[in-house]
Amino acid sequence: MKLIFRLGGIAALVAGLVILAVLPFATSFVEQWARRDVELRSRLVFSTARDQIVDLMVRNDTEQIDRLFERVATDERVLAIGYCDGQELLFPTKNMPGSFSCAQAARSDSETFSTIRADDRDVLVSAFPLKANGRTGHLVVLHDMSYVQRRGAQARNYIFLALAGVALGAAALVAAIALLIMRRWLASVRQAIENVRAGTPPLPHSDDLPAIGKEIHDVLQELDATRRTIDAAHTDWSPDALRAALSNELSGSEVIVVSNREPYIHNRTDNGITLQIPASGLVAALEPITRACGGTWVAHGSGTADRETVDTYDRVAVPPGHPSYTLRRVWLTEEEQDGYYYGAANEGLWPLCHIAFVRPVFRETDWRMYRAVNAKFADAVVAEAKREDPVVLVQDYHFALLPRMIRERLPRATIVTFWHIPWPNAETFGICPWREEIIDGLLGSSILGFHTQAHCNHFLEAVDAYVESRIDRERDAVTYGGEETLIRPYPISIEWPPAALAGQKSVEECRAAVRQRLGLPPEMRLGVGIERFDYTKGIIDRMKAIDTLLTDYPEWKGHFVFAQVAAPTRSKLANYRQLQEEAEALARDINVRHGTEGYEPIKLLVRHHEPDEVFELFRAADLCVVSSLHDGMNLVAKEFVAARDDEAGVLILSAFAGASRELAEALIVNPYNAHAMGEAFNRALTMPLGEQRERMRLMRDQVRERNVYRWAGQMLLAASRLRKRQRIRRVIAESRRRASAYA
Ligand code: F6P
Repeated sequence: MKLIFRLGGIAALVAGLVILAVLPFATSFVEQWARRDVELRSRLVFSTARDQIVDLMVRNDTEQIDRLFERVATDERVLAIGYCDGQELLFPTKNMPGSFSCAQAARSDSETFSTIRADDRDVLVSAFPLKANGRTGHLVVLHDMSYVQRRGAQARNYIFLALAGVALGAAALVAAIALLIMRRWLASVRQAIENVRAGTPPLPHSDDLPAIGKEIHDVLQELDATRRTIDAAHTDWSPDALRAALSNELSGSEVIVVSNREPYIHNRTDNGITLQIPASGLVAALEPITRACGGTWVAHGSGTADRETVDTYDRVAVPPGHPSYTLRRVWLTEEEQDGYYYGAANEGLWPLCHIAFVRPVFRETDWRMYRAVNAKFADAVVAEAKREDPVVLVQDYHFALLPRMIRERLPRATIVTFWHIPWPNAETFGICPWREEIIDGLLGSSILGFHTQAHCNHFLEAVDAYVESRIDRERDAVTYGGEETLIRPYPISIEWPPAALAGQKSVEECRAAVRQRLGLPPEMRLGVGIERFDYTKGIIDRMKAIDTLLTDYPEWKGHFVFAQVAAPTRSKLANYRQLQEEAEALARDINVRHGTEGYEPIKLLVRHHEPDEVFELFRAADLCVVSSLHDGMNLVAKEFVAARDDEAGVLILSAFAGASRELAEALIVNPYNAHAMGEAFNRALTMPLGEQRERMRLMRDQVRERNVYRWAGQMLLAASRLRKRQRIRRVIAESRRRASAYA
């Protein structure tokens, strides 16, 4: 309403200014018109009386002239009449102003009109040449002009009233039109808001839509088009494509990655400071992404020389030699690591989520430490953020509470959390004493990602079961505490082509080198398994399958060796130590039972292998086994496929690893079924090369297309779409606020 009054007021003001500008012209026009009228009357007087005057002058009848002049002067407008003989005024009528003299009248051979001031009023003096008795004088007719001024003032009043009426009418008309436009504009904005809320596609272009509503629709249309373009561009993800997508979609945005494990660990050894790249799927996936995006990676500084290699702000530029992003290290005390990392994360959440039949341990003291360490990382993220709206990529089960903590301190941040391990069904998750707090923490994210749709569904079930929220099943979105979190599957992957492949020798050379190193004859068939020494990986189960193979197919004795690379991990925990002991004992037992002089079917290599060594092993192998009892994705499976540019080799893959959803051409096995897995070993060892190639080609296409740049790209582009939507929502909310203030 205020707006309408304002517009009406503006229209009235404009009309008023126009009146002020027009009024003097109108008044002067009326005055000129009145003067011309008076001049006409003077001429009439002269032409009517001229002959009579000349006649009376010839007769020198001054009495009659006086009478004639007085009679003419009775005309209401004529003030006085006289005759100027040179400078002498003759026969002046009785109203002739005393101050008037012939010198004041402009005289010439033709009629003249001039205005003089006499007796405090304007007087028009008309002088007409008149010849009598051989001499030329001038008849002067004086008109009182004060009535012209009266008429001018009157006209001014009338014109003013008329124009004021028109102005008010115009203001009312403008206000009515504005009211009409405003109503349509509001209806259009409301419609746009409803569309955004309902997630329905924008309305098609219509010329009828008022401009602002149309603009909102256009932005939504653009958003929709962006989504279609991005969805279509799923085949060619590379560092350049990711960089291009980021500079288009998130240009000027600040990216901060947070994880427990750091991508580069500096250790003090006898040879000085050495650099270690940890055996971590998370690091393998995120490192190339962070290299492509730049930004900051916040992680626990766990190396023995980490403190010596940072600056005063605990930062170090990485990768060493070719720095492209900043690693910000966070220091944890031993007590903190025990409670947060070993306790809550790896004795609680890890077994809870993996369901590998290792009982989770939930200690309240661990949870308090977990909370405190999450808060410590929140401090580091806030300290590193240069803007109030960074894109923060929170990684994994170590930081379930971090998204909420960041959200509280940086409300405009776009927080994308990725849970790298499985999410169990709601019933299993329900045993966790911290379930509500974990869900609350994760729902501080803008987007929460899992490897598979099944994990997303499990999470939504848990939300439904344990917290008060609204779940939109169609959009897989949760509204909790007024904020929305999108739940999405993003299958993680590896870089393509993998950096570790670059320096590799030919497959034949790798086969020869590895066999020589392991003390095997050149023709020995070789299987490999490469992972951290973790009970979720099914290392014991695959050994049992090898036992079955060698029992059921004894012809493989002496002709097949399985090399198990196992990097020690979390050795502080009893479960992990026991696993290692059990695996070593089982390997010894199998080697005793199936081995012969100079032949051991299982080679257990318990140490961390750098990526180059891992890839050499993959290239040297005839088969690779990934027999996880439960795994979010498992990147070893994808790395094996990526390493085999000769398109040979067979992958034996657990049905319970997320990777089995994508790598369907592997031999899919149930790791709990040792007999069936033994069969799979035999099938792999006897698979014709043509079939190996067919399967490997399809798997390589899959890993190439769905590489880690696509994984990150899809998450970051989803974040960008969200930021755009939030921007639109803010614009709409603001225009709504303004509109309701006006209304
Ligand atoms: O599977 C999730 C994951 O974070 C992997 O990315 C990584 O290999 C592992 O767990 C973590 O290992 P660590 O405890 O040694 O960092």
